[in-house]
Amino acid sequence: MRQIAPGRRHPIFALVYGALAPLSEVGGGARARRELLQGLRGSVVEVGCGSGLNFRHYPLEVAQVTALEPEPQLRRLASRAARRATVAVEVLDGVAERIPLPDGSQDAVVSALVLCSVEDLAGSLSEVRRVLRPGGEFRFLEHVRGHGAGGRLEDLVDPLWTRVAGGCHLNRQSDLEVERAGLRLEGVRELGTKALGIPIPGPRMLLGTALAPS
Ligand SMILES: C[S@@+](CC[C@H](N)C(=O)[O-])C[C@H]1O[C@@H](n2cnc3c(N)ncnc32)[C@H](O)[C@@H]1O
Repeated sequence: MRQIAPGRRHPIFALVYGALAPLSEVGGGARARRELLQGLRGSVVEVGCGSGLNFRHYPLEVAQVTALEPEPQLRRLASRAARRATVAVEVLDGVAERIPLPDGSQDAVVSALVLCSVEDLAGSLSEVRRVLRPGGEFRFLEHVRGHGAGGRLEDLVDPLWTRVAGGCHLNRQSDLEVERAGLRLEGVRELGTKALGIPIPGPRMLLGTALAPS
């Protein structure tokens, strides 16, 4: 597995995202996040939790959330959000490519707007599968490459976009990679581009569940 420098910093992105992302909550983001998390229970790991916008939406049946965030400023915001959460949330410095939990230990893994940014997508999804118990759920809210001209435009602007957007790629086909990792896609729904209440890059926003083999 590729080594990833610990404590990667994206200070400007973190500042802008930390300030603007909460605004999306009133514009539909809260609804999308609630739908992402509804019905979860037991032990959950959330990769790339950012400033912790998901925390207040976890159902009470969730016993423990282990939240990984590599960016120090966002992790500080997430730790603050964890103290206000109604379920137990532990925020750790960590990346999706190396989830610090045992094999088969989690009922669910959650990823919101993260697969676009991880350095090693296949490696991250292999970790997701590793930590899920048999039949465990991978819940994701992710933007993926658009079809036709939209996708081609994303290919064109991606090299510049990824430099200003904290490593985010517009044109990943993360849904296909989820299946390649051996997780069974089900219940994938395409949301409108404004689903999170802010103009989100990438015209296809997917809210989905994939299951680990039983
Ligand atoms: C667009 S933000 C989304 C944050 C949060 N999930 C949300 O929904 O608001 C992308 C996040 O992915 C994190 N990230 C980037 N590379 C990562 C990696 N390899 N593993 C885990 N998180 C990563 C970033 O630090 C950032 O917090």
